Amino acid sequence: MSGGVPRHVAVIMDGNGRWARERGLPRHAGHLEGMKAVRETVAGACAAGVEVLTLFAFSTENWKRPKTEIQALMEVLDTFAESERHALIREGVEVRVLGELERLNERSRAAVSGIVASTRGGETLLLNLLISYGAREEIARAARNLARQARDGLIDPETIDPATFRTALYTGGLPDPDLLIRTSGEYRISNFMLWQLAYAEMYITPVYWPDFTREDLFAAILDYQRRERRFGRVAAH
Ligand code: IPE
Ligand code: IPE
Ligand code: MG
Repeated sequence: MSGGVPRHVAVIMDGNGRWARERGLPRHAGHLEGMKAVRETVAGACAAGVEVLTLFAFSTENWKRPKTEIQALMEVLDTFAESERHALIREGVEVRVLGELERLNERSRAAVSGIVASTRGGETLLLNLLISYGAREEIARAARNLARQARDGLIDPETIDPATFRTALYTGGLPDPDLLIRTSGEYRISNFMLWQLAYAEMYITPVYWPDFTREDLFAAILDYQRRERRFGRVAAH
């Protein structure tokens, strides 16, 4: 059995739209309500002793949604960066934002740099927010960077192995997620951390993201603790 607390928990926060629709509300009301679940999950992760929490907030493919919804999602991001800043600093949460940030508008880029700069050095929890993120894009970018270094004679292509490749990913030296949670009952990965999830334990809950609480996080962690992680080896007796 895995026993301990997962060092790294990653979450595909899904179901905001369906949460809103069931209440006869516009989709953006679901996104706004989702902030509450982010707060819950951050507090739960701190309480449980998780070291790294990664939240998938906006995918490369989400750029294909209607303009008005993209705008609403970016406004939620801006609001989060502003309203949560003090609480995050107080809780010792260091925020990093990973993804193709050059695609964000100036206002959101400023919100992102603000929250990153003001939480730097927090020691309780590292919170990765994945925005404008796609795993295939991340892997292609890593390959591009390594190819450039090889072309410039900085590295020998023969030395590129999984250990060096991982350092070229956005998540660099971080441990891989031990536990992947997806809300809203969808059984798919949706272009999320394809490299890093190689041996993650998966936990899928029907709960829509805006309803997700710290108790749901603890339930996922308890479930994880009952798993036997074999990493391709035979079971320990
Ligand atoms: C998750 O909720 C938020 C993002 C993907 C940005 P959705 O907006 O995907 O909600 P559903 O899946 O339509 O219910
Ligand atoms: C995945 O959810 C992306 C995020 C949670 C940010 P989606 O709702 O975009 O995924 P699909 O389209 O159902 O696969
Ligand atoms: Mg969805």
